[in-house]
Formats: sequence, structure tokens, C-alpha cells
Amino acid sequence: MKFANQVAIITGAGRGIGRAIALKLASEGARVAVVSRTEKNSVQVAEEINARFAGLARPYSVDVADHAAVQELCAKITADFTRVDILVNNAGITRDGLSMRMSVEDWDAVLATNLRGAFNFYQGVARGMMKQRSGRIINIASVAGLMGNAGQANYAASKAGLIAFTKVIARELATRGITANAVAPGFITTDMTDVLSQEIKDGVVKQIPVQRFGEPDDIASAVAFLASAEARYITGQCLPVDGGLVM
Ligand code: NAI
Repeated sequence: MKFANQVAIITGAGRGIGRAIALKLASEGARVAVVSRTEKNSVQVAEEINARFAGLARPYSVDVADHAAVQELCAKITADFTRVDILVNNAGITRDGLSMRMSVEDWDAVLATNLRGAFNFYQGVARGMMKQRSGRIINIASVAGLMGNAGQANYAASKAGLIAFTKVIARELATRGITANAVAPGFITTDMTDVLSQEIKDGVVKQIPVQRFGEPDDIASAVAFLASAEARYITGQCLPVDGGLVM
């Protein structure tokens, strides 16, 4: 049990990649705060974890973009579990469109969720991690943040920002036993990529050396490694998990 006695917060854990991460960390013994915007989803995932791994998860709901609400939630989670060892900033949205025509609302919404959301949770847990002189922060970025993607100016900028943010906090916290890393998924089968047309999916698959989309579990495995004791000398990195799309 890699994460016995450890507490993990996973945002956007009501479905998709976040759900897979929550299940993976719980399967290795972590007690999990399942955070989602939609209460019904976090309750469902927490119930699933508790049914499979016996009483380790609690559901919470919040809009990650709301700084005050997130600080309050982090205090509640810390009180409920007594500590936080692992933070996975996974909640994210897309509002795609050509940059010239993109509305300021779509720009702001994506930046607020994907980038400010991670900053908000970081501020909510960093002090506790510094006091305990240990912690793991893992930010779910995207290959779009490394290579750009037409139609995703807001999304790619938010993910590139998240990668830079990861490096800053890695530097600031390095002497406190806290590591911060990013994982950059390629194309993963979830609701987010379900909306792409078959034509776009076929085009994308041709660009991926392994010739297929990844699964949420592929991301969860990378997160579990970076969250583990074995990864203690890795910090400030961005690990693409993308079937070779970026190399
Ligand atoms: P998804 O759309 O299935 O799940 C996203 C989750 O984030 C949902 O549970 C949603 O409720 C939550 N969320 C969104 N806005 C929120 C807010 N303001 N407050 C609280 N929760 C919020 O997406 P998926 O595919 O599971 O994505 C997870 C992460 O992985 C995202 O950060 C995404 O950008 C990233 N990613 C996904 C890729 C893919 O191919 N699916 C590729 C690269 C990155």
C-alpha cells in the first residue's frame, strides 16, 4: 500500500481522468477527498471507492475558480482528515474557438478554472504541507500547453501557465520536502474528447505514434508514480503521457 495513512485531494474527480486518479490512489491505500463541481458526481465516486476499498473517501463539491470557497473547503478537508499529503489539480474545461473570434468570457472562464483553480487549491494546502515538511502537488496540464493547438488559445495558454506555475512552486517548496510536477495528457478517452467529430479523431490518431487514444488509467498511473515516495527526487517536471505525440 504505497499511500497508507496518506490523504489525497483530487479536483474534478466526479468523472473521467479525475475519477480514475481517485480510484487509483485509493486502491493504493490513500484516503481521498473527492472534489467535484457537481455534488451528485463526487458522492457517486466516493461511494464507489468506499464500496471497493472500505471507508476511505469523502465527497465534496466546489467551483475551483472561487478562491474564498476553496480556502474554506481546504480547511474543512484538513479538519476532516487531519492532514493533506497529495494535491492533484485535475479540474479543467475547454471553450474552443478561433482566437480572433474568441469571446473574453470564454477566455476568462477557461483561465479561471484551469489556472486560477490550481492556484486556489495550492494556497489552500501549501501551508499545511510546509508545516509537515512533506507533500506532493501534481497539476494536470495538457500537450496543448506544450505544442499549442489551433482553436484552443485559452486552453493552451491556461495549461502552459499551469506548467510554469508548477515550476515556480517546485522551486519555492523544494527545501520543504514538497515536490510539484505536471502531467501532460495527450488525447484520452473521456467526455472532454467525446465531443470531437470522428473525422477529427481519425486525424488525431494518425499523429499519435502508438495510433490510439489513451485511457484515464494511463494518466492515473503516472500521477500515482509522481505522488509516491519513489518520485522524491523528481520536481518541477512536466511528464507527457500521450502515446508519443510530443517528443
Ligand atoms: P472531463 O470533462 O471528463 O472532467 C473534468 C472534470 O472537472 C469534471 O468532473 C468537471 O465537473 C470538473 N470541473 C470542471 N470545471 C470545474 C470547476 N469550475 N470546479 C470544479 N470542478 C470542475 O475531462 P477529463 O478529460 O477527465 O479532463 C481532466 C483533466 O485532464 C482536465 O484538466 C483536462 O484539461 C485534462 N486533459 C484532458 C485530456 C483528454 O484528452 N481528455 C487531454 C489533456 C488534458
